[in-house]
Amino acid sequence: MTVLVTGGAGYIGSHVVRALLLRGTRVVVADDLSAGIPARVRGLDVAHIDLAAAEAPDVIRTVIKNHSVTSVIHLAARKQVGESLEKPEWYFQQNIGGLANLLTAMRLEGVDRLVFSSSAATYGIPNVDSVTEDYPGRPINPYGETKLVGEWMVTDAAKAWGLRGTSLRYFNVAGAGAAELADTALANLIPIVFAAIRAGKPATVFGTDYPTVDGSCVRDYVHVQDLAEAHLAALDYLDADARTHSVFNVGTGRGYSVLEVLAEIKRVTGIDFEVNLAERRAGDPPFLCADVSRIKETLGWSAQRGLGEIVESAWAALN
Ligand code: UFG
Repeated sequence: MTVLVTGGAGYIGSHVVRALLLRGTRVVVADDLSAGIPARVRGLDVAHIDLAAAEAPDVIRTVIKNHSVTSVIHLAARKQVGESLEKPEWYFQQNIGGLANLLTAMRLEGVDRLVFSSSAATYGIPNVDSVTEDYPGRPINPYGETKLVGEWMVTDAAKAWGLRGTSLRYFNVAGAGAAELADTALANLIPIVFAAIRAGKPATVFGTDYPTVDGSCVRDYVHVQDLAEAHLAALDYLDADARTHSVFNVGTGRGYSVLEVLAEIKRVTGIDFEVNLAERRAGDPPFLCADVSRIKETLGWSAQRGLGEIVESAWAALN
């Protein structure tokens, strides 16, 4: 059994690759290395391809044949919400075009197991305390739209030719399983605050007048190592009989406000950095927290690490 991991040189992908290797599964990586870092997958076979390119189906078919690929974990995608608002066509071309090419190659080569990297961004702004997978998807940006449409494509392939799929809706992923796999992009709250601390600048809180516990936005932070293990559970699930397409939230079920995260960062780093209370950022849901009953009951997975380990591991990876 060999698993093709697309986006395997990325922050999350490289944690998934390492978890697979640790349990003795053979892995081949496909990555365009636009955001991926080769050092994260040193020593592995890496197909350097843009999945959305016209020649991608043929290239993927060759990778599948050469490595006897039996399952695919598809993480390769563009994932910046702000960028997706500026370049929606490109997000659809990349995320939907890439998935279409991958599914074409899988179908032609008879590879029928797929774990698809989806997102809580598919929910948009839900007005519930914790969101179940059955909550209607109403994404509020092109990035979230591409993830929801991607899920539909997996459902349709399951109906049309028997693909077995799981879509994992990631909540706020953070932390590091190893220093060399750490999140180097300054795109999310915890890495952004660490960068501010290291530059001796204040951290910024976007919005303090939300209807939440302390007025700042609440999110469900999941450790990247726990998330990697959820992918293994999803693969095992697909190996059982008669699967179609199942969707799972991947979070902890527990929310923390931005101010609570900053307090945890102060505790872990021992640095009493300045905090700048700013205006709301456009498009932020006040509260986004996962109901994790389904993944626990069906895959037997639940997050083992909390906010403390998330912040500690991310900080340790930088120091
Ligand atoms: N925030 C601040 N200050 C900062 C950075 C962020 O207050 O300097 C706040 C944001 O306003 C938000 C919270 O911290 O309330 C988390 O923000 P992130 O940018 O880290 O994450 P988001 O919740 O906006 O988005 C993340 C992923 C998306 C994904 C979404 C789904 O980045 O890709 O979760 O849950 F779609």
